[in-house]
Amino acid sequence: MNSILRFLKIAQCPNCTGELIEYDKGVSCKFCKTDFLKNDDGILLFSPRTTKEKELDKYEKIEYVDKYTGLWAFGYKVFGFGQIESLHRTVNQLVLASAFSNKPINILDVGCGVGRATSDCAKYLPNSFVLGVDLSETKLKMAKKIIFGIDEIPLDLCSSGFGKKVLKGLCLQNAFLIQASAEQLPLTPDTFDIVINVNLIDRVKNPEKAIKNMISVLKPGGVFILSNPLNWQSAEFWNMLPTKEKLEAFFMNNGLEIEESFDGIIYREILDARGSYQDWTTIVIKAIKSG
Ligand SMILES: C[S@@+](CC[C@H](N)C(=O)[O-])C[C@H]1O[C@@H](n2cnc3c(N)ncnc32)[C@H](O)[C@@H]1O
Repeated sequence: MNSILRFLKIAQCPNCTGELIEYDKGVSCKFCKTDFLKNDDGILLFSPRTTKEKELDKYEKIEYVDKYTGLWAFGYKVFGFGQIESLHRTVNQLVLASAFSNKPINILDVGCGVGRATSDCAKYLPNSFVLGVDLSETKLKMAKKIIFGIDEIPLDLCSSGFGKKVLKGLCLQNAFLIQASAEQLPLTPDTFDIVINVNLIDRVKNPEKAIKNMISVLKPGGVFILSNPLNWQSAEFWNMLPTKEKLEAFFMNNGLEIEESFDGIIYREILDARGSYQDWTTIVIKAIKSG
């Protein structure tokens, strides 16, 4: 089955929960007739944003996305940097330990960015179907080249002193990418075996809604894996969810049982060729959906 058909089996209209069907320009809801169009890169847009909204988002800027890809998400491939690998490899270990066998499973990576965790899941679990969701079309364009491509992808890292570099596409097939918001996922409840979100929840406008949505699409008994520095963008959430313990309490009140959690993984973002960097103290939680 091709990837869009696999996606449509687990998708629903974000407005009315109706069934989605494919047509030449994108997908359409059978019930409310809303169309969700593909962009020029062939990515389905469920939460399309205005030009102004995109201009205000650093994750839509190509220079930032090149830097994100070359220095952070895939820095281990481009330069051999290991500074953020402790976090990514911890997440990978929790995913692999949750997959148990080679049986086909559905994995959701919300806030997938340029596709680091999505591609790791697809590569290490070839029988899985991995759906990557992000708000940024620029990041998804890069993710698409990395995950599905076979060519060399040019990265311009001149502004941080590293010059021009390339990253090779991974040529994976068992993944699919969509543009949508964590706050309004076009997905059927109780569908995914594993839901991961790496450094997403402190970036979204409404983290509570995003977390509830991610839990709702997880199957009962499914595994929720989160990493985050809790570097909230508003005072409201610094007050509401300032610690791992408060976040765990929120999860438990929303149907998750905490299996493992720890704080203090250092996620080190290299900033330039002089050796400047920024450290984030990151928590990791693995939880199971009750029921
Ligand atoms: C810090 S980056 C993490 C990216 C990726 N998980 C990684 O670890 O490389 C946060 C990502 O969340 C995305 N994002 C922000 N708000 C979002 C939302 N409401 N729904 C989906 N993605 C969102 C951004 O576009 C960005 O790609």
